[in-house]
Amino acid sequence: MPKVTFIEHNDTAHTVEGPEGRSLMQIAVDNMVPGIIADCGGSASCGTCHGYVEAPWLEKIPPPDDTEASMLEGVLHGEPNSRLTCQVRMTPELDGVRVRLPKSQI
Ligand code: FES
Repeated sequence: MPKVTFIEHNDTAHTVEGPEGRSLMQIAVDNMVPGIIADCGGSASCGTCHGYVEAPWLEKIPPPDDTEASMLEGVLHGEPNSRLTCQVRMTPELDGVRVRLPKSQI
């Protein structure tokens, strides 16, 4: 099964297995990874599942759609590699993906 590593702002890393088709947010919540709040449950309307997807995996993910892009404009601590983890689905190509988490979601 593909793996994903979430890295908290304090550099604590959590490497967990992520079933194909499940969103990175769902994988984080399934594994009780701190730092992902996911208030809206994955409908791209809260922005509290924000993470920074590291290269080279960022290029393997389809770009944000208009809804995600709009939400990303309002997140705290936004960066060019910011994504809403609820909008990124695990694929075999993302095995090993590393996602850094922001200092704060709210
Ligand atoms: S869980 Fe709310 S925007 Fe991702």
